[in-house]
Amino acid sequence: MKTKFYITTPIYYPSAKLHIGHAYSTVVTDVFARYKRLAGVPTYFLTGTDEHGQKIQETAEKNGKSPQQFVDDVVVGIKDLWSKMHISYDDFIRTTEPRHEKVVQQIFSQLLKQDDIYLSKYEGWYCTYCESFWTDTQIGEAKVCPDCKRAVHPEAEDAYFFRMSKYANRLVEYYEKNPLFITPESRKNEMINTFIKPGLEDLCVSRTSFSWGVKVKEDPRHVVYVWLDALTNYITALGYGSSKPELYEKFWKDPQAEVIHIVGSDITRFHVIYWPIFLMALGLRLPDRVFAHGLLMMKDAKMSKSKGNVIDPLPLMEKYGVDTVRYYLVRETVFGGDGQFSPEQFIERINTDLANDFGNLLNRTINMVNKYFQGVVPNFQGPISEFDQQLSSLTTQTIEDYQTLMNQLLITEAYAKVNQLVARANKYIDETQPWNLAKDPNKLKSLQVVMHQLIYTLYVAGTLYQPILVTTSDAFFQQLGTTTKPSLKTMSNPKVVDGLKLSQPTPLFPRLDPLIEVPFIQSTILKK
Ligand code: MSP
Repeated sequence: MKTKFYITTPIYYPSAKLHIGHAYSTVVTDVFARYKRLAGVPTYFLTGTDEHGQKIQETAEKNGKSPQQFVDDVVVGIKDLWSKMHISYDDFIRTTEPRHEKVVQQIFSQLLKQDDIYLSKYEGWYCTYCESFWTDTQIGEAKVCPDCKRAVHPEAEDAYFFRMSKYANRLVEYYEKNPLFITPESRKNEMINTFIKPGLEDLCVSRTSFSWGVKVKEDPRHVVYVWLDALTNYITALGYGSSKPELYEKFWKDPQAEVIHIVGSDITRFHVIYWPIFLMALGLRLPDRVFAHGLLMMKDAKMSKSKGNVIDPLPLMEKYGVDTVRYYLVRETVFGGDGQFSPEQFIERINTDLANDFGNLLNRTINMVNKYFQGVVPNFQGPISEFDQQLSSLTTQTIEDYQTLMNQLLITEAYAKVNQLVARANKYIDETQPWNLAKDPNKLKSLQVVMHQLIYTLYVAGTLYQPILVTTSDAFFQQLGTTTKPSLKTMSNPKVVDGLKLSQPTPLFPRLDPLIEVPFIQSTILKK
């Protein structure tokens, strides 16, 4: 296992408010980063915004602002959203920052000098009215501009291209040597069959038809076309190519750093084909893994502003607390597959997993320790009954499985294990019937063991939930009577809960009434 950890989200376009789909990528990445920190691994977590390009330029104009003013304003909202969601990023890179632009120019110059980049012509269908190029698919059979519906005509403009095909064999070799590089596996096959096997086309890396971008130093009529600009954020943010490359050396260059990009399946191609090829051309190491998660949809369609079916995470967090939204995002969708946001499922998930299973276990257990042992957790004595033994081994097993799964980025499975442990502990109460043990003075030791085990299991579950439940976890550990921050290390010793003085239980997650809450969530859907 590598000793350091670098993880990134996509950098988002600040063209509009972000929605719950963007929050999904960011929350999952945040949970991985928090997990690694909990495991004591030096971790660096990067997010940011991809601020150049024609679309941003046009949207700014429509809003009567300069592109810079426009993105500055949108970024305030994005940072505010991440702060409300308790996203623990170490850095937020904006591609309009000088630290990024300068290095993009350097990279472009180097690739040009090496003849990986060359000048040619970009050909496409042009709409004079919109001043935009379109592809065959975009104009369809009618050959009209998808935006204004006017006729388009074939046109060519000077553009720089990157020689992709030169690196295709090396890329496929890298895939073969690193079978986990692209996950899920199905996306890898899609990439090879759809893009690499038919022959990689050279990629257009500059444009002259708009000006909002990083200028090509050697030929300032051109701006660097978005993907070369955008992808390099992952290293410019670390100081690559600058006078302060320490973070780059620690979290990228060093082979002991595990480098992971979390992206949505819509941008897999750019991350598993273009990005590694750019890095090869620059003579730099490649990321260890690109995990392409699926997209969150609404019942019958992709979430999109133009369809008016976008879920805004803010009102949900205001009403139900940030942790419920974080939990739903991590737990509901199988990581790697597409998901569906539904208000009913949101309520159901919170009620079942958090209010009933986890919340109830905490409540019942604290009440019993208060009643039978004046709120003081009995010391560890080891299992007595078969039930004690079963819960104890499951707890140990869960600690191990959880870490193995999280290290493999199998986050859904990792949290399913924690849920199972909580469910098992609830069943253990029914099996051991502490209220009967309490009636018989000869069963005192058994009762002590049961109470200790329940508290310890809660402690473990609470620690493993901590990367997700960032605000309630303080209240949770307070109820368990401890203020020291748990870690994966301290958690492995059952004695950690010996003698804790518990507080009065207060429900962490009140049960939600679907008849009231479903219509509320529906009313928050952002209309056009
Ligand atoms: N700027 C590029 C990415 C450059 S990365 C070097 C971009 N930006 S974006 O704002 O369109 O964000 C795309 C990412 O947001 C997706 O890859 C995905 O991670 C996330 N999502 C956007 N909509 C989503 C859903 N409906 N569901 C899940 N994730 C979604 O592309």
